[in-house]
Amino acid sequence: MKFFIDTANLDQIKEAEDLGILDGVTTNPSLMAKEGISGANNILQHYVNICNIVDGPVSAEVIATDYEGMVKEGEDLAELHSNIVVKVPMTKEGIKAIKYFSTKGIKTNCTLIFSAGQALIAAKAGATYVSPFIGRLDDVSTNGVALIEQIRLIFDNYMFDTQILAASVRHPMHIIECAEIGADVMTGPLSAILALINHPLTDNGLAKFLADYNKLNG
Ligand code: G3P
Repeated sequence: MKFFIDTANLDQIKEAEDLGILDGVTTNPSLMAKEGISGANNILQHYVNICNIVDGPVSAEVIATDYEGMVKEGEDLAELHSNIVVKVPMTKEGIKAIKYFSTKGIKTNCTLIFSAGQALIAAKAGATYVSPFIGRLDDVSTNGVALIEQIRLIFDNYMFDTQILAASVRHPMHIIECAEIGADVMTGPLSAILALINHPLTDNGLAKFLADYNKLNG
């Protein structure tokens, strides 16, 4: 499973990249705003800065909601760097834009997916990735991980190339469950990724090994 980090924070992206297990980055307008990035030029420059840190797909979301606007914005974003993936919302206009981008060889991430039907439509339009938001489904008492399972079955039935990018991942068990099901990619906060490393028995075991070594070696 590929690991993307879901942030526009350059320090966190660098920290994940330094770990050696980072495959890409996803951003969205809320995450850009959280970093205080505003103004068209600053936003575009920030995407380039991210692309200069991580050698993998970087999702950059369009703001336009109409087809023509999405196509214009998406083409501008795609020209920024070869790693850019144009993130497009799951709407009728968005699906038309994804179809257009797929015929032009521009990679897309169809975002705000909350049902298997939406994922199926996005795959048929030629999306490179679909992003089911599992945490936000959990927030409304619906099993987000079960949606990943449903989409996996459908995509495998028809051998869609579209990759399942489990998004709105909140904690390490989301990552484990998505990996069990066979999500192609997960995107989440650095904290969820780092939490996979920790185990109290590892800490205890290491402390014991070092104590035993020091008994004889001072
Ligand atoms: O990748 C989608 C993500 O940014 C949404 O996450 O935690 O705001 O639901 P969250």
